[in-house]
Amino acid sequence: MPKPKVLATHELFDAARQILQEACDVEYWAKPELIPRDELLQRVRDKEGLVSLLTVRVGEELLRAAPKLRIVANVAVGFDNIDVPACTARGVVATNTPGVLDETTADFAWTLLMAAARRLGEGEALARSGNWKNWDLAQLVGTDVHGKTLGIVGFGRIGKAMARRARGFNMKVIYNSPKRAPEEVEKEFAAEYRELNALLAEADFVTLHMPLNEGTRGLFDMAKFSRMKPTAFLINTARGPVVDEAALVYALESGKIAGAGLDVYENEPFILPGLKRANVVLAPHMGSASLETRTKMAVIAAENTVAFFKGQKAPNMLNPDVVQPK
Ligand code: GLV
Repeated sequence: MPKPKVLATHELFDAARQILQEACDVEYWAKPELIPRDELLQRVRDKEGLVSLLTVRVGEELLRAAPKLRIVANVAVGFDNIDVPACTARGVVATNTPGVLDETTADFAWTLLMAAARRLGEGEALARSGNWKNWDLAQLVGTDVHGKTLGIVGFGRIGKAMARRARGFNMKVIYNSPKRAPEEVEKEFAAEYRELNALLAEADFVTLHMPLNEGTRGLFDMAKFSRMKPTAFLINTARGPVVDEAALVYALESGKIAGAGLDVYENEPFILPGLKRANVVLAPHMGSASLETRTKMAVIAAENTVAFFKGQKAPNMLNPDVVQPK
């Protein structure tokens, strides 16, 4: 029997390629630039599987162009790039990569938090510029992290990993999520529940860890920023569109908040010029970018694909209601 044809929109890592080749005939897009849309739609035409990056929009257009498609394996935990109901309607399985990037993403959210609080972006630019004249008592003074209050919005795996790290900084941890965590979980993470507005009024650092969906899109608007302390920072390693960026620029300009650390943007890779300010630390969506973790993400996407084609249940199915033919 010929192996099922799969398109990978990236060349992936060796470990993932080895798993895929076991059960699939894989065509890789190996160029450094993203696969152009028309190229993608053309190449996916005869494929039964797609291993795709989060930059690939999988909706009606792609599904129509790929009549043989049976599985889309996203190399990401977030899956707002995939129209899951549209996949389900066509019997296409969709999978993601949960669990492997929580600690790495939390590490990076802390990197941004600390860089923003301690003005590392400005300090680095000065150190490299050749214009650093002397040590000065009031030079690049930022704000302390230790002993402050961390407000975690979205208390899933990554949010909890944030809470665990906050202990070492002797911080008070408050959190908000659609569902309050059980008491023993709150105890384990030394985290207190707050209504969102109460959290915003109390936190010195507000860090976002919710998925992007219709309930969270644009959630952080002017009204939310107005609730925050003028000394507070916003950290976003979740998804750009949970924040209204124009409102964020205004909040930063008008001193409603003190600064921000951003890894994600409303229209990536475009970054609103108003965000390129001294009190904002900017990163190009790299929260999960350690070699260990990105390799694991690719491996999981490969494992989901191979399990599916071996007639097993893909371990990280987003639409378990899709019935797989035997
Ligand atoms: C990265 O942003 C991911 O969702 O895995």
